[in-house]
Order: sequence, then structure tokens, then C-alpha cells
Amino acid sequence: DKGNHRHFMAKEIFEQPEVIGHTLANYVNPVDETLRLPKLPIDLATVPHITIIACGTASYAGLVAKYWFERFARISVEVDIASEFRYREAALPAGGLAIFISQSGETADTLAALRYCKAHGQTILSIVNVAESSIARDSDVIMRTHAGPEIGVASTKAFTCQLVALAALAIGTGLARGTIDAADEPRLVRTLLETPRHVAEMLSRDSEIHALAGEIAKVRDVLYLGRGHFFPIALEGALKLKEISYIHAEGYAAGELKHGPIALVDENVPVIVIAPVDALYEKTISNMQEVIARGGKVVLISDREGLDRAGDQVWAKIEMPKVDPLIAPIIAAIPVQLLAYHAAVAKGTDVDQPRNLAKSVTVE
Ligand code: M6R
Repeated sequence: DKGNHRHFMAKEIFEQPEVIGHTLANYVNPVDETLRLPKLPIDLATVPHITIIACGTASYAGLVAKYWFERFARISVEVDIASEFRYREAALPAGGLAIFISQSGETADTLAALRYCKAHGQTILSIVNVAESSIARDSDVIMRTHAGPEIGVASTKAFTCQLVALAALAIGTGLARGTIDAADEPRLVRTLLETPRHVAEMLSRDSEIHALAGEIAKVRDVLYLGRGHFFPIALEGALKLKEISYIHAEGYAAGELKHGPIALVDENVPVIVIAPVDALYEKTISNMQEVIARGGKVVLISDREGLDRAGDQVWAKIEMPKVDPLIAPIIAAIPVQLLAYHAAVAKGTDVDQPRNLAKSVTVE
């Protein structure tokens, strides 16, 4: 049932405040403002290394989590896509933690990578949306996302639910290791609990994004740029756009621009820059200026202050609410979903069933 929406994808995008809330309810206690994580067979305080493996959008959730684990828990983290990981004979430290992320729980490459990690002495923690699934069954610990059934081939609500579960796990790991002060736990929990409200606020800007998507639908190529934890959101924005609108799109780390992709920039290639005000804002904005200087059309996704500071040479602006950096990548995922959705609708593609794609990739 699509409710009042034309497509499952739209319904699922707009369900996000609710399902993120459901997912969070499993991992935090709002009354005493503490985390509530599942018991692990290993001690997070001493675990030597974390390996995160997934495919597609789920792998981008893993990439965001890498920034969180490193910042909050000061632990070494490796992220790989399952199809590469499974054959590259990875050397894994004894007693490590391997995290698998999958909406369906049935992705063949992810399951094969899980079995490799199991055979190599890793504790297996899976973040899955479908509880009755192969990946869930083969794991030592499961953290379910409570996104509800995701029908649209393009993953949206599963992604943001994966992100909040991973944020809770990264903070829990930091608390266990003492790299986060125990006194900070209530504030961090409150910040996580603010996510649904800010996602709703972001969704309320849908009509502006819709108007802009009409322009994006006319182009052949789009670049997405982000730094730090917004780099995976740039990758996600590009994947979302290409899979449902068939517009060629690439996500890049903003600092990589001058190492090649800037050669593509002209007035026909919009560049979507994700840069709320934070410690890296100035760096990303200087990359944005390089794009503008070459006649590129920039769409800047930032908060009010960031949009104001960026000046008036920006072609289009999408305003994000001002949020704590912890949850900023989750909020930034929303405008790139909406942009892809409306661009695809404007092009008249089959949004929920894009050509050549399956919801669950059970063959390698
Ligand atoms: O079910 P999974 O989360 O394991 O699926 C992983 C990818 O196939 C999936 O995220 C895919 O990239 C989506 N179509 C992206 O929107």
C-alpha cells in the first residue's frame, strides 16, 4: 500500500522520521538517556579491529560508520564492498569484530564475506532489516533496523535506519573504550533522539527540491562532492540518482576534484556539494569555488549559515536544519534521496522497479 504516495519510494522516504524513531527505540533508553546495545561475545573495550562489509547503499552506511568509529572509539576500521572482500584473502586480526550491513539479509556476496570472516575468527554482528534472513541466521549478534518492508528497489529508509543503529554502536564502543567520557552519554543519546525531528524538518523542504529536480532531470551527468562523513553521502546521492533516473552521476571526495574529475566541469554538469558548517566546511567551499570558477553550476546543500557564507554565485541552494555533526550525515541523506526521486519522476522512469535491477541480489 502506497498510502497517499505515487510510488513506494516516496512513501518510504516520508516514513523515515517514524522508522528511525522505531529503530532508535531499540538502542537507546530515552528515560535515563543511556544506550541499550545487545550483549556481544567479545569485549568492545579491547577489540583490536573492526571490519565492515556490505554492498551498494548499505556499504555507504558502513563508510559513514567508519568515520564515527574512528572519531568516537579511536579504533581502526576497514570498510569494503562484499564482492571485493570475499576474494581478496583479507588478513584479519584474531578476535576482531566484523559488521555486516544488509537490508534484505540475503545479498549473496555479503553472506559469502560473512562466512569468510566467521572462518577467520571474527565475531559477526549484522545490521539487518529482515529478521528471518540468511545473514541474520549466520550471525553471532543481530542489530535489527526497524524500517519495515522496503519495496522500492532504491534503498532509502533502510539506509537511514542502518545509520542510526551504527551511530549508537559507535558511541557504545567509545564509551566501552573510554574514548568518550561517560558524562557525555546523555547528551549524545539526546542528539540521536533528535534525528527524527530533524529528518521531518528536512522533508518539509520537499517542494523546493522538487522544483530543482526538474532542472537536474534535463542533464546527462551530475557530480556529487562531500568531505569526511559527507563523502559517503555524495556516493549515495550519485548511486540513487543513477539507479532510478538513469542520469550518469558520480560521487567524489571533494579533495579529489583536482585529481581528475574537475576536467569534466562545465555549465552542463551540475555539481552537488554537501557541506553543512563544520570543521571541514571551508575546505569543501574552496573546492566549490574551483567549480564555480570553471563555469560549473553548483547546488549547495548546507545549513542557513553555510548557504549565506557561500555567496551568491551558487546556482541553487538546499537548506538543511542546523544539527549536531553526529547526525548531520543522516540528515544530509534526505535531500539527495528527494532529488533523485523527483528527477526520476520528471524523466518518467519506473521509479520503484528501475530497469536491470533487483531488490535483493541473491546471485554474485
Ligand atoms: O539488501 P542489501 O542491503 O544487502 O542490498 C545491498 C544493495 O544491493 C542495495 O543497497 C542497492 O545498492 C540498492 N539498490 C541501492 O539503492
